[in-house]
Amino acid sequence: MSKSIRFLFALAIAFSLSGALSFAQSGEAVYKAKCQSCHGAAGVPNPGIAKIMGVKPITAAAVKTTSEAEMIKATANGMGKMQPFKGKISDAEIKSSVQYFRSLAK
Ligand code: HEC
Repeated sequence: MSKSIRFLFALAIAFSLSGALSFAQSGEAVYKAKCQSCHGAAGVPNPGIAKIMGVKPITAAAVKTTSEAEMIKATANGMGKMQPFKGKISDAEIKSSVQYFRSLAK
């Protein structure tokens, strides 16, 4: 009896996890949909955007030394001409898109 309950419990967790994963978009998908227009496909904005919006490339020293937590805060609350994303996309999507953005520095 207890064994089958444990099995059902594990099954329920597995289902809820896979549901959560397929619901949240991957960092790459969020980045391409919501961030790429300003930050560029490779984390480097095109020169026009960089000039008008003041977007810095991921390779800039000041951006490279910014921690993941600070980037999540900047994305959630807005920075310069970037609108706050909090409430527009989920916290998990903010985090995963920031992680994807950071991965472009390598
Ligand atoms: C409308 C253009 C625009 C969009 C869309 C945009 N950003 Fe930004 N982003 C900016 C600007 C402008 C800054 C401020 C640059 C500065 O002042 O140094 C910035 C700053 C940042 C920073 C802080 C580090 C830095 O570059 O100075 C991060 C991290 C960041 N954006 C991530 C994101 C993510 C993740 C998304 C998508 C969810 C996103 N941005 C979408 C324009 C944009």
